[in-house]
Amino acid sequence: MANKQFDVVVIGGGPGGYVAAIRAAQLGFATACIESEAYADPKGEVRLGGTCLNVGCIPSKALLRSSELFDDANHAFVMHGITAESVKMDVATMIRRKDNIVTQLTSGIRGLFKKNKVTLLTGHGSFVGRDNDLWQVQVAGQDGSGEVVSARHVIVATGSSPRHLDGIPVDNKVICDNVGALSLDAVPKRLGVIGAGVIGLELGSVWKRLGADVTILEALPDFLAAADPAVAKEAWKTFTRKQGLKINLGVKINSVKRGKKAVTIEYDMGDASYTLECDCLVVSVGRVPNTAGLGGDNVGLKLDERGRVEVNDHCQTNLENVWAVGDVIRGPMLAHKGMEEGVMVAELIAGQAGHVNYDTIPWVIYTHPEIAWVGKTETQLKNEGVDYRVGQIPFLANGRALGQGDTSGFVRVLACAKTDAVLGVHVIGASASELIAEAVVAMEFGASSEDIARICHAHPTLSETMHEAALAVDKRSLHF
Ligand code: FAD
Ligand code: NAI
Repeated sequence: MANKQFDVVVIGGGPGGYVAAIRAAQLGFATACIESEAYADPKGEVRLGGTCLNVGCIPSKALLRSSELFDDANHAFVMHGITAESVKMDVATMIRRKDNIVTQLTSGIRGLFKKNKVTLLTGHGSFVGRDNDLWQVQVAGQDGSGEVVSARHVIVATGSSPRHLDGIPVDNKVICDNVGALSLDAVPKRLGVIGAGVIGLELGSVWKRLGADVTILEALPDFLAAADPAVAKEAWKTFTRKQGLKINLGVKINSVKRGKKAVTIEYDMGDASYTLECDCLVVSVGRVPNTAGLGGDNVGLKLDERGRVEVNDHCQTNLENVWAVGDVIRGPMLAHKGMEEGVMVAELIAGQAGHVNYDTIPWVIYTHPEIAWVGKTETQLKNEGVDYRVGQIPFLANGRALGQGDTSGFVRVLACAKTDAVLGVHVIGASASELIAEAVVAMEFGASSEDIARICHAHPTLSETMHEAALAVDKRSLHF
């Protein structure tokens, strides 16, 4: 029999799980969150925040910023008349800064749990069965401790782990996934990356700016196939020609061998075979859902064909009062998507009208320039046979971008030719991650491009490019 009883137990303390737990507690439920010791601090204390805070979104953005500053000092200061000689990067300090940010934020979630009266249960959570209408969940600590708790509702938020490739053993020192790639102790002379997806581009950019010779090997023949084609084309030009990232498409990896001094990768591209030698290799070929050891079989929890927990539009699983959110279910593996689902589920449990609008989840790639979008790409609209109009304005025509010395990229608004409803907005440029929020709000409110065009945008700001792009849909841009 279970000792402790809760209204809601959340398994996993990442963005999906910790937000679900906080919202459930705010709604008056006795709530516990189970987090394993996967991310423990040096004292052995569990760190909340999951992949995102520990080895994902936050540490990667900290390193991106450090590397951008280093790059600016080397290449951008000069246009302002600033001379910076013998600029050096102390990698240890950069990594320490990143680690401190992680510590600050993960302990912040602990504080939020205290404030909202969420009980933190430390250990690996798994289903053991059901007693009447109470789910029985085991919490097993690494030290052999264990207890079974019971809950009316369980929210599975166990997240995802990096996908590894057969024959490529990751040690997170020489052959790394995201964990090692965020903690290298020196800049590798030659860095190989398998996978030109989000992690490959973001972390490849970090180490490139710090001086590594970076070669990315991508299986697909198209670059950034999920992005709008105009954006992908611009990004390709910037990353390969201006920044010197070597990106090889349509690659088939044949073997990866780790020697004493280098990693050797044999691969085919087109009709030819090639060899790449590097000092460090990052494998970033997607992520897999964490369902192993969850005890799903004990209770009949259904998985889909890709091993994710199967859910309906409201994140309900096939089991009564068992829900799942975040990376462990279908949909994009994004922190903000998981958080929204966490809120939705807590509100649905409370009998409220929880809802996630999957059509307006923004995507951001934090390269330089940044890439961000919401809604449909031009490819999708064409495939769906939708008649649309395009308004596109380059940052080169924006005074603020010129002042900042960063004019690469553009804003592109796609609107329905019949109704003028905004169907998609695509940004490549400085601060794209911030600019996209306006487009998300517009689409959430069902705005037309004319609505954005009639909103007063502060001058001089980068957001005026969004304004001009909306005007350009109707061929009446004022400054281009
Ligand atoms: P996770 O964050 O994976 O959390 C799951 C938690 O559950 C973990 O703490 C795990 O230890 C715990 N757990 C698992 N199984 C059990 C169990 N049985 N018992 C107890 N605990 C368990 N997304 C963005 O939106 N923006 C970004 O900029 C971004 N950058 C990223 C950069 C990198 C390098 C990586 C790898 C990912 C990035 N992501 C980004 C993706 C983002 O990190 C994930 O989408 C997000 O963390 C998913 O949240 P989650 O709560 O579903 O799962
Ligand atoms: P990804 O899915 O973005 O990219 C993986 C890439 O690897 C794809 O282009 C794929 O074609 C390629 N690939 C797969 N197998 C291969 C092989 N055998 N050889 C060569 N290439 C191969 O996955 P990634 O970069 O690992 O990131 C995982 C997830 O984490 C992302 O999908 C995203 O959801 C999340 N993330 C989000 C970020 C953001 O929001 N800014 C940043 C980083 C990660």
